[in-house]
Amino acid sequence: MSEQNTQQEQKKIIFSGIQPTGTFTLGNYIGAVSHWGKLQDDYNCIYSIVDMHAITVRQDPAELRKHTLEAYALILACGIDPKKSIAFIQSHNRHHAEMNWILSCSTQFGELSRMTQFKDKSQKHPDDINAGLFTYPVLMAGDILLYKADLVPVGVDQKQHLELARNVAQRFNQRYGELFTVPDAYIPKVGAKVMSLADPTKKMSKSDENQNGCIYILDEPDVIIRKFKKAVTDSEACVRYAEGKDGINNLMSIYSVVTGKTNEEIEREFEGKGYGDFKIAVGEAVADHLKPVREEYKRLIADKAYLKECYTAGAEAAMRISAKTIAKAYRKVGFVDMK
Ligand code: TRP
Repeated sequence: MSEQNTQQEQKKIIFSGIQPTGTFTLGNYIGAVSHWGKLQDDYNCIYSIVDMHAITVRQDPAELRKHTLEAYALILACGIDPKKSIAFIQSHNRHHAEMNWILSCSTQFGELSRMTQFKDKSQKHPDDINAGLFTYPVLMAGDILLYKADLVPVGVDQKQHLELARNVAQRFNQRYGELFTVPDAYIPKVGAKVMSLADPTKKMSKSDENQNGCIYILDEPDVIIRKFKKAVTDSEACVRYAEGKDGINNLMSIYSVVTGKTNEEIEREFEGKGYGDFKIAVGEAVADHLKPVREEYKRLIADKAYLKECYTAGAEAAMRISAKTIAKAYRKVGFVDMK
């Protein structure tokens, strides 16, 4: 085996997934997807557009199909290189559905009932509290365990689900013998959470009532700058990072991520200047930063044949790995070998 291959083997495995719900926000980008590309050299990365998770809430089929392709093009535009990483669409690999069943028989009703996201989502969609919404974390555990991922980049809102995946992995291993790697969370150091520009006490979200609060990574520069100009701040009129200055803190951390400047450098840069100047500077920096992503996205989404080639190869590569895990899991639980 060549030296390069040996190194490949020794690299830790990263798995992460993102739902195809329309275009990503600046929050999705800074908190998650922008980091994915950077991890590709140090880890064996597997990234998935999790369309199977998306149908736990009602979706228009044509829209879902469109959004899934768009999300796939977007992760490539954000720097995921399909030659370095495995990038695939979840429903293309049947092993996810199969693993979901196996693992659901090692998951307790009680532990799923404690999931805060289930409670939140069932309150939001009282007319469609389907079983998939309830067992969503089992499907997610399967995503991770199929590839024996060591690390899972997740935001704080997914930590409880990851904890459940760890418990299920350990329980299965104890019951049937070692099979799964117990995954750890990978929390990026900077910019883990981007807040709404309209209400900086809340997370930036697509469902924000005030659309000025949410930046989409495909927004045109003038739209981005306009939204930043309207950002809610405070009455102190001094650009400094401090408790209680949620709006300014949020703008500073966004500016810091896109320019690489520290808070002290930002404070010095805007000394004696008003919030108006600062907001425009942040807007322009974000627009500049996202420009290449938007351009690459436009190029990719117009090239359906290339996208298809990438996601097909991605699914095949994913399946080669997960086929081994699912075969071992079937054997361990006592299913009869067909061969
Ligand atoms: N549940 C995650 C979210 O909504 C998406 C997801 C699905 C995921 N499967 C995963 C994330 C596996 C990490 C690992 O954000």
